[in-house]
Amino acid sequence: MTGNSTIIDPRDDVLGRARVTDTPELQAFYEELAGRNAGAFWKRANAIEPWEPETRYRPTLWRYAEMRAMCMRALELVKPEEAGRRVVTLLNDSDAGRENVAVCGWLFSGMQAMRPGEITPAHRHTASAHRFIMEGKGAYTVVDGHHITLGANDYVLTPGGCWHDHGVVADGEVSIWQDGLDIPLMNSLETNFYAVYDQPAQTAAFPTDDLPLSYGGGLRPEGIGAWDKPWSPVMVYRWDATRDALWKLAKVSDGTPFDGHMVRYSNPLTGGWALQTMGAHMQMLKPGFHGQAHRHTGNVVYNVARGRGYSIIGGERFDWSTHDIFCVPAWTWHEHVNLDASEEAFLFSFNDFPVMEALGVRIEEPYSENGGHQPA
Ligand SMILES: [Fe+2]
Ligand SMILES: [Fe+2]
Repeated sequence: MTGNSTIIDPRDDVLGRARVTDTPELQAFYEELAGRNAGAFWKRANAIEPWEPETRYRPTLWRYAEMRAMCMRALELVKPEEAGRRVVTLLNDSDAGRENVAVCGWLFSGMQAMRPGEITPAHRHTASAHRFIMEGKGAYTVVDGHHITLGANDYVLTPGGCWHDHGVVADGEVSIWQDGLDIPLMNSLETNFYAVYDQPAQTAAFPTDDLPLSYGGGLRPEGIGAWDKPWSPVMVYRWDATRDALWKLAKVSDGTPFDGHMVRYSNPLTGGWALQTMGAHMQMLKPGFHGQAHRHTGNVVYNVARGRGYSIIGGERFDWSTHDIFCVPAWTWHEHVNLDASEEAFLFSFNDFPVMEALGVRIEEPYSENGGHQPA
């Protein structure tokens, strides 16, 4: 407040507008408005409509060594039949993250560990899910009767509304994966329903890994009708094939200045995202790669599939190594660096880009100063 005039909106100064003068009558008016569940737009115009996106989320990193230990303690402390989903939730380091149970923006994430012979009881929800397998042997998921085997660094879909249960076979190994869901979005839209299946686990209704019947091999079945679901019929994307695709891509392309070589987990019928609300990528940073910075609308959560390096996010350096998880909030500058001089680094990531695109608000900007790099 300056004298008896109030800087109501910083745009007043930029636009050279006259300021609203605070008077006792105006104060009384504001109080009357408040008493009627109303307010004066001009008092908060800049907060209501900022000049550019203002995220309420912070860049946050979770170290795998620490979070893996937390998952192991959860295994000791609670049984899956008691807890249902024995998930360690990743909460963004911000009030918004804790309030919305969000890893970043519209995205939820957790880490789930299962011992051999254990199952997560079958259920379904409106929220879509996808999972990135971090370690283990013998894990599987059953999605609407499709039994899908899972190995390290595989990426698998659990589209919204599908029945799903998970498990690890009795002669397998403790398996840990990262869940990604659009729960904060579905809760904001007040559209999330949840239901429990009438059996602890589904009976597989199709041959194992039919994907389904089997677009996974690029084979579209004749005679049973076209795939009519809004998600990809390739429900699992294997690590070996993904890594090989990136190696081959690097032989024919320079990649992008921001993300190195990158592939989208796509719906082969459309070339678009595999799910309606969340997308996912795998990117490869060549040895010594130092990407340029950019920023965009939409939130991204990374899982280091392999390698060591760092990312500068909003001017802050976050060092990472295999299976660390970190996030880049909306409209925040970020650049990635592979610190290894001889090995590639691979970053899995998932995002809310399909939502941004559907709403026509996916916007991107390169960092134009200092050779494309944020100040050290
Ligand atoms: Fe679920
Ligand atoms: Fe980016």
